[in-house]
Amino acid sequence: MDLSGKVALLTGASGGIGRALGRRLIAARVKTVFAYGSRPDQARQLAAEAKAAGVDAIAIGGDLADRRVPARLLREASDALGGPVDLLIPNAGHAVQQDYTELDLEAWDRTFAVNLRAPFLLAQQALPGMAARGFGRVLFMSSVAAFTGGIVGADYAASKAGLHGLTHFLASRVAAHGVTVNALAPALIEDTAMLPGTASPGALPVGRFGRPEEVADLALAVLRNGYLTNQVLSLDGGGYPR
Ligand SMILES: NC(=O)c1ccc[n+]([C@@H]2O[C@H](COP(=O)([O-])OP(=O)(O)OC[C@H]3O[C@@H](n4cnc5c(N)ncnc54)[C@H](OP(=O)(O)O)[C@@H]3O)[C@@H](O)[C@H]2O)c1
Repeated sequence: MDLSGKVALLTGASGGIGRALGRRLIAARVKTVFAYGSRPDQARQLAAEAKAAGVDAIAIGGDLADRRVPARLLREASDALGGPVDLLIPNAGHAVQQDYTELDLEAWDRTFAVNLRAPFLLAQQALPGMAARGFGRVLFMSSVAAFTGGIVGADYAASKAGLHGLTHFLASRVAAHGVTVNALAPALIEDTAMLPGTASPGALPVGRFGRPEEVADLALAVLRNGYLTNQVLSLDGGGYPR
């Protein structure tokens, strides 16, 4: 379907996958809030590219570990772009490589706040309006670590697995109202700050890292499809199942 003129909120727009996805949204002429955490330059650059292409956009910052930020992002998105969010893409992710034996509660809580609580708060506040208007898309950014455990940490894998439960719970609540809820679960994606230094492409059957643009292409296909819902789609070079 044609997404032009829709309003999107993309978190993690300053990251590797977010930038690629942001450029796909601009090409699709989606009015977008590019949300960032600590790196405004990348998100502002996307907003400038959108405006140069004649597409309304804005960059907004906020720490998603702060429980007040999701509501503020939705409010500011609606104010700035002339309508409520149609496409919600909670893509921001927090990952610190740490052995489970050394993981402290502060680290655990921060990972869960950014990776699971913030996506839930965004969806909780955006979905009722989407359902009432008869159209909406929520696309969470999970990780293959939710299936395999991965190489980052127990908190990261568990928080991403939580997004799958959230996907299944929420999708069934809104499916009859033109709203889809899905998640993507990529493996090792290059040109991202998150790619662990210890990661090796040899660990994947395809023998290479994934490209942010490959994640972005699948994300756009999911956003365009009204019959695909309640799914977690792996994009992992054949990594899982094996
Ligand atoms: N790269 C991979 O191999 C891989 C694999 C599987 C899944 N993923 C998932 O893909 C998503 C995008 O990550 P990426 O690969 O593009 O990595 P990235 O380049 O490290 O980007 C991470 C993004 O999340 C944002 N973020 C982190 N903590 C935040 C916070 N507290 N508040 C607001 N924003 C915050 C960052 O914003 P700032 O930089 O502005 O702070 C950045 O935009 C994440 O959910 C990640 O878990 C990545």
